[in-house]
This record gives sequence, C-alpha cells and structure tokens, in this order.
Amino acid sequence: MWNDTGSVLISPSIIAADLATFGHDVAKLDPGVVDFLHIDVMDGCFVPNLTFGPGYIKNLISHTNIPLDVHLMIASPESSLSRYIELTPKIITIHYESTRFPIRILDQIRSSGTMAGLSFNPATPISNVVDLLPYLDMVLLMSVDPGFYGQKFLEISMRRIMELRELISKAGLSENVMIQVDGGITQENIAAVVRAGARIVVAGNAAFHNGAVNENVSKLKESALKGLR
Ligand code: DX5
Ligand code: ZN
Repeated sequence: MWNDTGSVLISPSIIAADLATFGHDVAKLDPGVVDFLHIDVMDGCFVPNLTFGPGYIKNLISHTNIPLDVHLMIASPESSLSRYIELTPKIITIHYESTRFPIRILDQIRSSGTMAGLSFNPATPISNVVDLLPYLDMVLLMSVDPGFYGQKFLEISMRRIMELRELISKAGLSENVMIQVDGGITQENIAAVVRAGARIVVAGNAAFHNGAVNENVSKLKESALKGLR
C-alpha cells in the first residue's frame, strides 16, 4: 500500500528548468518539500520533442537524493527500459500508446522493485486501463498532449480523472493504484484536480517559473491540500 499518506505529492518536471545548469541547481531543491523529480524523457519520435536519456539522468542523481519519477515518452520502451531500471527510480511510467506489450513491461519494472506507471494521452479512452489495473501501481493521466511544458490544461481531463477514480474503485484497487496528473497544472486548478482524485501532481511551469522552486512547490502543495478537505 502506498496510497495511504492522506496527502498530495508534488513532482516538479525538470524540463521546465534550465537544463544547462540544473546539475548544480538541483542541489538547492529541498527534499522536505519536493517529493519527486519528474523526468520527462522524450525521443523525438513518440512525441515531437527531444530531451535527454539515461546518461544525463545518471549524472543528475549524483547531485540529489530526491526520488525520481521517470516518464518515458518514447517509442518501443522495451528496447531501452533496462537502462532506466538501472537508475533505481521510485517510479517508471510508460505510455499505453507506445507499446503492444504493456503487461510484460509493467511486470519487468515491478520485478526490479520500481513502481510501475502507465500513462494515457488525452485522446485515449481511459476505460482501456481496466484489464491492466492489477499490473500497475500508478496511472498517469495526461492533461495536455505530451511533448512540451507550459501548455494549457485540457478541461476534459477533470471528467477523465473522475472516471479513472471510479474504475480503480470498482476494481477494489483504490489502496494500490495512485492517480498522477500531468500537464498545465497551476495554483488555480490544482485543488480541483486533487478533488477529482489525483494524489501525485506534476508541475513544470508552475514549479520552475522565476526559479523559486521550493517556494512554488510549497504553495502548490498548500493549494492542493484544499482539494482533500
Ligand atoms: C508534457 C510533460 C509534462 C510537462 C509538464 O509532455 O510530460 O511533464 O513538462 O509541464 P507543465 O506543468 O508546464 O504543463
Ligand atoms: Zn511528464
């Protein structure tokens, strides 16, 4: 059970940071405030943008103890999965749309001791998750089309989060499967996203704008907790 913290976890997406200096800046992030580092791996194929791979992440982890939440936006994740598993992140998420073999991959992630996440793009029916729920620890619901930070939250996501929560509850897996929401999160919409069912919230622009990440994340968490009351 990892869903019983009664809290909301915030996962700042590092693509919204200045990656040229982030290796040093990451040491300034307070592990008491920042729950995860959300690592957006993009391959220029599954999504129309390219970020970094396991080499950069390996260097980064030598500067921080904050757990990693790796979001793989890559085609055929099975071919490079072991290189991400070796980094011993807390969570690895693959995309439903990126593979025909999600169960095998989720099993491989889990058997390494890392939590397994499965992500759904806004255009993918969330009901497709039903048969896969026993094989995963987290569902990442994209609230923008993936590829870039700083996009606007898609309002259709609210209904989709609620539908997902209902599907998880009907399967009797509310204690085991966490909902993560990613894309367009702001101080203004985070409470509603939590009220709908999210317990891990990704924030790119909202966490990194003006560089005051610890303060931005504290404020996001404060606003997020209003969604639990
Ligand atoms: C989008 C990425 C997100 C994004 C979030 O493809 O998966 O993690 O960086 O950034 P914001 O919060 O600015 O939308
Ligand atoms: Zn992401």
